[in-house]
Amino acid sequence: MKKDYILVIDSGVGGLSILSKAYKILPSNYIYFADNKNAPYGIHSKEKIYIFVKDIIINLLKKYNIKIVVLACNTATTAAIEKLRKTFANIHFIGTEPAINLAYKKHFKSAVVIATPTTIKQQKYKNLTAKTPIQIFSLKLKTFATAIEKFFTHKHLWDGFVIQKNIYNICYYCRNSDCIILGCTHYGFVKEKIKNISQKPIIDGTDGVLNQISNFKDKLTNFNNEKSSLKFMVSDSSLASKEIYKKIFNEILAKV
Ligand code: DGL
Repeated sequence: MKKDYILVIDSGVGGLSILSKAYKILPSNYIYFADNKNAPYGIHSKEKIYIFVKDIIINLLKKYNIKIVVLACNTATTAAIEKLRKTFANIHFIGTEPAINLAYKKHFKSAVVIATPTTIKQQKYKNLTAKTPIQIFSLKLKTFATAIEKFFTHKHLWDGFVIQKNIYNICYYCRNSDCIILGCTHYGFVKEKIKNISQKPIIDGTDGVLNQISNFKDKLTNFNNEKSSLKFMVSDSSLASKEIYKKIFNEILAKV
């Protein structure tokens, strides 16, 4: 019998924090796909993002029994999850969204959501922010995810500088708000920096995604594996090889 897989997709390093926790806490067979050829997702239209993700899934389905797809990416979730659910009716899709509800549960009255331009543009995002009693300010960050991607895969000094510039921009923008909500999985990589410089609580929705994965566990024949297995895939290995993603994953895993 073919193994069942959980496919975790992001445009690059962002989804690795979700993957590392899931890998450790919810043993299963995972495939991590970094679509770095099309990164950043946050500048593309929802139609294009749907096609990127749809093609990844179609290709992988030729070889693997994929039962669950985790969109470890806020941009892909807001832009394409609904259409993907219709296209692949036999797959369970789990998305990642800014954890506005969590901020509400923590009794914050106002929040700045930081996210990609594409996420903030989507109707799904607008609906999410419209139904909360919290006062939400949305800050579009055009260069932040790319700088994080490049810095963590290649450690270029210039990207470190762009990251710093974005963090100061965030700090200025959130000065009158109670907290900062991460609306892009890449930003988790510099969460502590944002927290230290802004002195604001940071709300991160990673644990919500893990809860959703565990709710789906009975859909997999081999969910109760004692150990996880993992395959890394990238769409452009000349930009960053799967070994680079693997190395970053192992560094995160050691801290989970
Ligand atoms: N990590 C992604 C997100 O959560 C995408 C960043 C990008 O590629 O623009 O939105």
